[in-house]
Amino acid sequence: MAFNPQAAGAPTPVHIPLPTDAVSELIIDVDFEDERLWVPRGENIESFPLLFSVTQGSWVNITRARGDGIISRHRHSSPVTGQTLKGAWGYIEHEWTATQGTFIYEPPGETHTLIVKDDPNNPGSDEMTVLFHNFGPLMHVDDAGEVTGFVDVFTRIEDCRSHYKKVGLPSDYIEKLIR
Ligand SMILES: [Fe+2]
Repeated sequence: MAFNPQAAGAPTPVHIPLPTDAVSELIIDVDFEDERLWVPRGENIESFPLLFSVTQGSWVNITRARGDGIISRHRHSSPVTGQTLKGAWGYIEHEWTATQGTFIYEPPGETHTLIVKDDPNNPGSDEMTVLFHNFGPLMHVDDAGEVTGFVDVFTRIEDCRSHYKKVGLPSDYIEKLIR
């Protein structure tokens, strides 16, 4: 028998429509086991896209890093938040280690280099996954802090689009994640 929320005590739903100018909601069931959906971002670093905001310039994704995977030094001009789902990681510029459950917020202006760390809760494991929300672009910088490249919501969309094309996913897959 189908679950009946009202019989279980939930309030009767009142369907108040979205404002005329609102964009549509996004509800997706993702399959983390489908390796085609993980977009390579360098050796031992992959990204699983969840949402791209082309009006705010932000994006939400899960980053997976293994072993000596590294995200080279970059500067955030907008905040970034991260919720650690698995493993241990950190930035070489900071002393702290994030483990499963650790939530981080980095302010605009932060420059760092991401590495995988030994997981004290699971010795021997060298894989981490983090749900990151990038509120804006990031700039790769050299030792002097000079910008050598950038990543923004548009480069991320293009990277994902070309990867998904290469692995044979439907051409509209990435479109579903754009708001
Ligand atoms: Fe970062």
